[in-house]
Amino acid sequence: MKQELKTLPNHIGFIIDGNGRWAKKRGLPRSAGHKAGSETLSLILKECFYTYNIPIVSIYAFSSENWKRPKQEIDYLMSLFEKYTSDDFIKEFPDVKLNIMGDESKFSSKLASQCQKTASITKNNYKYILNLGINYSGQEELVNAFNSIIKKGIKSVDRETIKSHLYTSGQPELDFVVRTSGEQRLSNFMLWQIAYAELYFPKTYWPSFNKKQLREALLVFQSRNRRFGEVK
Ligand code: IPE
Ligand code: IPE
Ligand code: MG
Repeated sequence: MKQELKTLPNHIGFIIDGNGRWAKKRGLPRSAGHKAGSETLSLILKECFYTYNIPIVSIYAFSSENWKRPKQEIDYLMSLFEKYTSDDFIKEFPDVKLNIMGDESKFSSKLASQCQKTASITKNNYKYILNLGINYSGQEELVNAFNSIIKKGIKSVDRETIKSHLYTSGQPELDFVVRTSGEQRLSNFMLWQIAYAELYFPKTYWPSFNKKQLREALLVFQSRNRRFGEVK
């Protein structure tokens, strides 16, 4: 009998890793891995929002360290992001709020204006949120938060002050983070928000991650005993 899913995360994160290795294994260029990875992203987002009704999904799509990659690969990834954040997003996810996490100053003017437009059109969608990390760095997010706090002349901060200056202001922290491809590190992903998240590292490369594996991941989450420092 199929095991029942009763405890789901409110906020799930994915470090979508392994596109390049997926392509290499098939004798394909890395761009083919990224293309396949973007299709997986749509599939998994739909599952999270519409099958499991998980309200918040955070995706690490491009880190601020990923600029070190060859220009050709970066250009291809940027063209995928341009497509992903265009009107296509609104057609695919009409009730999802798009919240870009990352430094938009390095985006092409097309990507920047499109992200702003789609974010603004979807800003009143309250049911589902996609936090999309492009040129994202968890450490930089904290540096920016502290600088905005200083600029406002605030002399003393508590956790709430810091939380309210992050890209995820007003949102609950991560409950569960899945990093595909078998790497067991965070690579600078949502360092503040991950404080009490359960972590899971399936070996599958992101383009091969599917509905069945998402369900398995959610069962792993359900099986974890979250104590938050208490005796339970
Ligand atoms: C994840 O796949 C996508 C990005 C980081 C943009 P990778 O491109 O890192 O794939 P691998 O790790 O080289 O296999
Ligand atoms: C982390 O993947 C960033 C994203 C998934 C966007 P990387 O492939 O860049 O991470 P490292 O270099 O293996 O740590
Ligand atoms: Mg990688």
